[in-house]
Amino acid sequence: MKLIIANWKMNLGLAASRQLAKDYATAFAGWQGSKIVVCPSEFALTAVAKELKGAPVALGAQNCFWEASGAYTGEVSPASLAEIGCRYVLLGHSERRKYLKESCRTVNLKLKNVLANSDLTPVVCVGEDLEVCRAKKQVDFVDGQVKRALDGVKLAGPRLIIAYEPIWAIGTGLAASPVDAEEIHGVIRNRLIKLFGQETGSAVPILYGGSVDIKNSADFLACDLVGGLLVGGASLDAQKLQKIANIK
Ligand code: PGA
Repeated sequence: MKLIIANWKMNLGLAASRQLAKDYATAFAGWQGSKIVVCPSEFALTAVAKELKGAPVALGAQNCFWEASGAYTGEVSPASLAEIGCRYVLLGHSERRKYLKESCRTVNLKLKNVLANSDLTPVVCVGEDLEVCRAKKQVDFVDGQVKRALDGVKLAGPRLIIAYEPIWAIGTGLAASPVDAEEIHGVIRNRLIKLFGQETGSAVPILYGGSVDIKNSADFLACDLVGGLLVGGASLDAQKLQKIANIK
């Protein structure tokens, strides 16, 4: 089953998050299709969980810290996220790498913390910027990011998701072509198999993200290697997200 993750980023306050969660509950009532996950702002998680009670939409967070608990002002632990109903957490989104200076090393530490101290499924985001893409170095670049993020990580089963999001495609309206996305997905798949063996490495979903909308979602979802989508802008409209997820 394909997986559609909605990333609301920092776009909505509490009232607007609540309203959009209500819209999701309506749009996805009786839903039998792809698995849907929504990642609101941290402060809205509990309110959104309440609105989505009974709806076929799981809850995810946009970030967490790399320690299990303690004196880390402003941070949140994976276990606390799980306690309030989260099942997923995004790690190393390119906006956090850019504005918060997150590195592959901190993503690696966060990932280990999530796996060791919660039952959340981590979604590790990777992707090259325009400069790397223009120099046609995206294969090595993304493979390196995956390798560093997963360094020393042990998996008992496929409790991990990788999201390939070329930075130049995020929020620009310029999505990668499904063919180019599939090439990188293949590289990531090979790396996962090398690290975790055939069975687990083949079972970890790899998502595409970056300007996904109603017009291009079906083409991505038709690719065998694409396990689903990470959707930003278009996920702020419940009807739109429903259409994106609604592949025949
Ligand atoms: P976008 O964002 O769909 O608005 O391009 C995707 C993301 O950053 O996850």
